[in-house]
Amino acid sequence: MIAQDDTNRPSKRQKVAEKETNTESVSVQCTNQGAEGRVFETTFLGRPAMCKERFAKTYRHPDLDHKLRQTRMLQEARCLVACSRKGIDVPQVYFIDEHKMSLHLERINGWTVKEYLNMHESDDSKWSQVARAVGTAVAKMHMCGIIHGDLTTSNMMIRRSAVEDEKSDSDSNGSSSNGSSSSSSSSSSSNATKSKRSKTPLSVTLIDFGLGSQAVTNPEDRAVDLYVLERAMASTHPGSETKLVPAALDAYRKVCSKDHFKTMEKLSAVRQRGRKRMAFG
Ligand SMILES: Nc1ncnc2c1ncn2[C@@H]1O[C@H](COP(=O)(O)OP(=O)(O)OP(=O)(O)O)[C@@H](O)[C@H]1O
Ligand SMILES: [Mg+2]
Repeated sequence: MIAQDDTNRPSKRQKVAEKETNTESVSVQCTNQGAEGRVFETTFLGRPAMCKERFAKTYRHPDLDHKLRQTRMLQEARCLVACSRKGIDVPQVYFIDEHKMSLHLERINGWTVKEYLNMHESDDSKWSQVARAVGTAVAKMHMCGIIHGDLTTSNMMIRRSAVEDEKSDSDSNGSSSNGSSSSSSSSSSSNATKSKRSKTPLSVTLIDFGLGSQAVTNPEDRAVDLYVLERAMASTHPGSETKLVPAALDAYRKVCSKDHFKTMEKLSAVRQRGRKRMAFG
């Protein structure tokens, strides 16, 4: 994050950043254009970045509009920084432009979880692996007092590097089963490396904290976050009720340990309320 100095004059680094973030001078590719804003690929100080810009809404009072967009942008940045400090995998925050109301983030090289699941539509074991990674990431985030507010499979990503690591793990496991290793010492050291590696399961990167909040320890809020996730999975991925949700919740419970009891209790109540609302409107 780049802050101004006390004199309120832009620092040298900020000037460079502003030059970099001038979208006229950098080739941009729009990834997502919604009613609220747009997300596009750019670079930041030579690094691949994503820029999230929030549009002004003419139907809102300009002061209110400014306040709302600023609050959401800063809230998103704060949640990302808080997650990152606690070791939760999220994009790094590069730059906040309060004037343009835009956020410059590390660009994750990979796929959204939605894309990844669709790419492996008939691979149940991959689905379960991804679901466990989702449950683990959400649990870690909740354990740090952070609520996402919009847990959909488009708001989570899988880094290409995470998949490649996994692939190389399974490749090396395959070669050892062929008995191709030469000496016993090299085989034992490679086994040690393998067992160390195989302890690193697939992980997901959480993005889009525009509706996020911090310092939340209320089980009800966590339960609502999980309910949003369940509903999002059900509406986007047919079969998720058996192939995704149970694995995700199982992983969630494991990470939260005894803290999960109250959340799960609340989740049942939230589900019931949801069902009633669907039945009676
Ligand atoms: N840091 C990132 N790295 C790579 N791709 C990203 C990144 N951030 C966003 N994307 C891509 O852009 C899409 C939209 O981004 P995001 O979910 O943050 O915005 P949004 O849904 O439009 O925002 P909001 O819901 O706050 O209006 C994502 O689904 C993903 O494909
Ligand atoms: Mg989104």
